Amino acid sequence: MIKFDFKTDTEEFINQEEYAKLYSEKKEWLEKLSKCEMTGWMKEVDSDTIQKIKTTAEKIKQQFDCLVVIGIGGSFLGSYAFHKSFQKYFSDDSFELIYAGTTLSDEYLEELVEYLENKNFCINVISKSGTTMETSVTYHILKDLLKRKYSQEELRKHIIVTTDKEKGKLREEVMEENYLSFEIPEDIGGRYSFITPAHLLPLAINYNIDEIIDGYYDGKRYLEEAFEYAVTRKLLFDQGKYVENYCIYEEKLSAFTEWLKQLFGETEGKNGVGIYPTSSVHTRDLHSLGQFIQEGNKVIFETFIKIEKSSNYILYKGKNLHEMNNLVLDSVVRAHHSGGVPCIEITMDKLTEKNVSSLIYFFLLSASLSGLLFGVDPFNQPGVEVYKKEVKKSIGEL
Ligand code: PA5
Repeated sequence: MIKFDFKTDTEEFINQEEYAKLYSEKKEWLEKLSKCEMTGWMKEVDSDTIQKIKTTAEKIKQQFDCLVVIGIGGSFLGSYAFHKSFQKYFSDDSFELIYAGTTLSDEYLEELVEYLENKNFCINVISKSGTTMETSVTYHILKDLLKRKYSQEELRKHIIVTTDKEKGKLREEVMEENYLSFEIPEDIGGRYSFITPAHLLPLAINYNIDEIIDGYYDGKRYLEEAFEYAVTRKLLFDQGKYVENYCIYEEKLSAFTEWLKQLFGETEGKNGVGIYPTSSVHTRDLHSLGQFIQEGNKVIFETFIKIEKSSNYILYKGKNLHEMNNLVLDSVVRAHHSGGVPCIEITMDKLTEKNVSSLIYFFLLSASLSGLLFGVDPFNQPGVEVYKKEVKKSIGEL
């Protein structure tokens, strides 16, 4: 169960007449969204794909020591964010997933190759376009390592490709080499692809994906709240609140805030508009960024992600530590609000797989509505393409 409070600590910062007007147009905005082409993430995922994902995940667990997930941006953040939300801080007992493909650091890649040298590993390379530089570089370096260890026939068993159904270099390679492959549907873009094999396959290794999928679609019940969140953010932006700080009190959610930054950053940041998404981990960052937020430039509003109950029970001087953490959260909301910072609260009753999947759907819905409210195409990222082209000019085709 998830609760939302968009009003208590934002109301005085928002023009209420404009709020009522925009809110009354809800039906039109939802209709506009339903007419967009790239909304495949709202549709049901087909049962054959789910079965194939489960079978493949089982085989990976039986046959290998670890899975290297290679991808960047929307092709890695969803499953990474989910996995990190539940992975133990210490003595991690989950099947080993290594997320690679997000850096060109030679230090990192050298050490990765060294680490994998004596491991029986498998690769899942994920790229919708099949041409992304960081993904290609990492994939080829690890494929070379596999080539040194195995025959062509053996090598095939260690590579799984997730890409577009028909287009791109990776799809061509799948056809030539007969690799096991999964498809990212044409009508789903990278950051909206949580409900595709791009994320469900890596997750199926350690989680029950039926529950993840149920939780995701259960997020549809928060349609009203998704619109309210989009409207609140837009009207805060209109009042000069150009930065949204996602605040978490459980550090396991820090990859989730990375996912949020990508989702909102790439969805809204176009044509000179959009809210700059950032994040802070509390209470740690209250001792650094907290000063700026309380008394600095008033361009910020905050969205607090709260977890109501914990299954742990640690006492400090007779006080439950989790409750203490939440009391700090409430106090910070009061303090920042008094310093002219509007605050939104999103509360999960517990940190569960179902709640996190529902939140993912909620945020996808509100981000896409938000993009429309800002008058931009929520589903493209022309700005990212600019850098990719510049790289191609200086490094050439890879
Ligand atoms: O959200 C997006 O579309 C992007 O962040 C892409 O996911 C990212 O650029 C990676 O692209 P690709 O999957 O084509 O390698």
